[in-house]
Amino acid sequence: MREVGIDLVTVGVFSWAALEPSPGEFDFDWLKENLDLLASHDIGADLATATASPPPWMAHLHPETLPRGADGTTLWPGGRQAFCPSSPVFRRYALRLCTQMAQRFASHPSLRMWHVSNELGCHNALCYCDTSADAFRAWLEQRYGDVAQLNAAWGTSFWSQRYRSFDEVLPPRTVTAACNPTQQMDFRRFSSDASLANFTAERDVLHALSPGIPVTTNFMVSEHVKELDYHRWAREVDVVANDHYMTGENAEGHRELAFCSDLVRGLADGGPWLLMETAASAVNWQPRNIAKQPGELLRNSMQHIARGADGVLFFQWRASRFGSERHHAALLPHAGTESRTWREVMELGRVLERLREVVGSRTDNQAAILFDYECWWAVGLDSLPSCDVTYLDQPHAFHRALTDLGVGVDVIHPDQDFSNYRLIIAPTLYTLTDETASRLQAAACGGATVVATYFSAITDKSEHVRPGGYGAALKALVGLSVEEWYPLREHERLAISGGMSSSVWSERVRLDGAEVIFRFADGPVQGEPAVTRHGLGSGAGWYVASRLDQEHLGTLVARIADEAQVRRLGPGSPGLELTERLDGARRWLFAVNHTSDPMALPIEGHDLVTDQPFLGTVKGGGVAVVRY
Ligand code: GLA
Repeated sequence: MREVGIDLVTVGVFSWAALEPSPGEFDFDWLKENLDLLASHDIGADLATATASPPPWMAHLHPETLPRGADGTTLWPGGRQAFCPSSPVFRRYALRLCTQMAQRFASHPSLRMWHVSNELGCHNALCYCDTSADAFRAWLEQRYGDVAQLNAAWGTSFWSQRYRSFDEVLPPRTVTAACNPTQQMDFRRFSSDASLANFTAERDVLHALSPGIPVTTNFMVSEHVKELDYHRWAREVDVVANDHYMTGENAEGHRELAFCSDLVRGLADGGPWLLMETAASAVNWQPRNIAKQPGELLRNSMQHIARGADGVLFFQWRASRFGSERHHAALLPHAGTESRTWREVMELGRVLERLREVVGSRTDNQAAILFDYECWWAVGLDSLPSCDVTYLDQPHAFHRALTDLGVGVDVIHPDQDFSNYRLIIAPTLYTLTDETASRLQAAACGGATVVATYFSAITDKSEHVRPGGYGAALKALVGLSVEEWYPLREHERLAISGGMSSSVWSERVRLDGAEVIFRFADGPVQGEPAVTRHGLGSGAGWYVASRLDQEHLGTLVARIADEAQVRRLGPGSPGLELTERLDGARRWLFAVNHTSDPMALPIEGHDLVTDQPFLGTVKGGGVAVVRY
């Protein structure tokens, strides 16, 4: 570990069965030995509370702690994380272990950080058992006060669903027909809170018994996980930490990585964060597990650092020979140190050592994309107009368009501060509060350019359709509302004036002050507006009524970014990813070349990767970090 420059190691994540072999009997000696070894080599520990996966004795003694699926299926031990997040029995045992860990190791010299549980909610976020049902009812009572309020919010006059008391309410278990949408949304909110409560309960123990040591848990911000509302979670951790694994089959996976890292920085309120886990090469849990290409390990790691991470950790140190993850990549692979992976790990260690000066620096971007986990949940409900409208699609598409222009982007929640931004993208903000709508309008009046897309401002937080035309809450901003939707057939394509094309969606808008920029050239609303602009104060509100092909969205975004006078970090070539971190007057430009060709970058400064003056070219597949 010292040879590669490792200075922080996560220890003990799935060790409950080894630390507490029988209920109440603890064995910490082996862990102490390992922590002593780390300390003697000046390596810090991100010490897990080890409560991520209860030992088999828990289910044996307390089968009621096992989680259940929506159809009542019990999820048995044999995998990991087989516990109901709302189980008071699980909580009692978990807090006992957490307390023992804190008492035993709070003053160990290796301890740098506490790691509560692990990826809370990874496999058990949505539990439908009777314990969860009780907790859900209590949560609803807290939210609504009395059942009449719940009936109003859930619209239970529809389909004879009126409840006489909270006792009759259930989680959205497998049902005969489409389940009540507000019930589904509330269950998601409740479930995210239930897993979060397991974090805060352990955190409070650790704060009390181990003062001054930061407490975190690893988030799973990626395209794979939508169950946890991390904007609520981020307020509770001392350090924002994320786990990110790419979809190996996606040749453009680095774009999803870039989006996620910007979202994690948003969770950290623009400040630095920690990449708690990623893979040195292939994972083992996708259908085809694609190994990283030469150089990809460095490029991906640098993308995280470029977008605000102050450190990069990997699952796992040494490839295991048994268990479910025996085929998962590791820093030290089965092949040993005579391997490409090891050589690249050594190189990464050297580069990270030279990047120490970047630690603590921030970003100063002028463009933002709004992102809301609740919208992700809502756009994923059943009984919507088209299964082809998916939530991540437009945030990813706009992020890609801006990144290809060399524009640095923040990904933030609609409640976060807009005042830094010249350009704000509000894509598919399906559920929207009046407050967000008026803050967006105020931002435009104050000079910002705001872009909203189709399927925005459709419902309120109770999943009730807003009256007055779709998107009416944004009317003052974009100068239109939407009269009717015309989702397209699978693979159907539309022509739009200006030589553009689109798919998935079209709609008939009702102009109220907006100027038409492009029109639908064919399809169900031929001749009607497809892209509009509404001048407002010293800014503007744009509206995009269809899913433009990426190339054409790129052209449109370039025009809008120019109008908004957003700063570009460089020439803006797709494939050369540019981002900037800064600290007072010191600035570092990160350039990651995802192509195999050398790319020109007209900037002068010192390249921390080569530790040489930067010569104006980033080599094919290479990375430069230029202090300038
Ligand atoms: C998660 C877990 C790790 C490991 C990896 C595999 O991130 O935290 O323990 O299972 O996935 O990719």
